[in-house]
Amino acid sequence: MAQEQPDAARIEAADFLQLVRSRRSIRKYKPRPVEEALLAEILEAGRYMATGGNAQSVRYLVIQKEAPRIQAAAWESLRRIVETMQASPDASKNGYLATMQRILRRRDKDPRDDRLFFGAPVILLVLSPSVTDGPLAAASIELMAHASGLGALYCGFAQIAIARSEALCRELGIVPEQLQACLLLGYPDVKFLRTPPRRAAQVRWM
Ligand SMILES: Cc1cc2nc3c(=O)[nH]c(=O)nc-3n(C[C@H](O)[C@H](O)[C@H](O)COP(=O)(O)O)c2cc1C
Repeated sequence: MAQEQPDAARIEAADFLQLVRSRRSIRKYKPRPVEEALLAEILEAGRYMATGGNAQSVRYLVIQKEAPRIQAAAWESLRRIVETMQASPDASKNGYLATMQRILRRRDKDPRDDRLFFGAPVILLVLSPSVTDGPLAAASIELMAHASGLGALYCGFAQIAIARSEALCRELGIVPEQLQACLLLGYPDVKFLRTPPRRAAQVRWM
């Protein structure tokens, strides 16, 4: 049976905009696990997002119990990526290389300096054959996480490290080309006092 349509008007537009404006990337998390029921609830925000042709092909892999092992494998993968890139004649042209080198250097100096997973207890992999449907779902989930008191971070470098490791993808049972977003989740250990500055929207009206 179809679910009753909730009354969207109960959410004031100004409240929704405030939620969007106050969302920040969280890079500091409490070392506290996230309840599975809460994670299941925030995934609902992905489930109800639009999908091209109503394909509804977005799937999720929630990594929490196994996170330390998966993170260690991802760190090894990042190291291999950097070594391979450094050896390439095009190394200087790669804009990401310097950042990845810096992430690794900091980790080597102090193993607690985690600029890849930022101490987040949960890694959420958003999987889809569609390069649009996956990120759309991820954006909705990120906002829902914020509304639920959780912090989130899109982590492109963690995504690359996972997707580029054949062994890790095999172990996780994922197709690397379908990894559309890697979201870190957890209880934030940081508070922002004001909304971030943003450039004015570039809009043409016709
Ligand atoms: C696709 C994507 C990938 C990102 N990858 C990383 C990352 O690897 N590491 C990181 O610290 N932040 C990452 N970010 C977060 C951005 O740096 C952040 O959104 C931006 O600086 C604006 O800050 P705010 O989200 O707090 O408003 C990523 C964001 C997006 C959308």
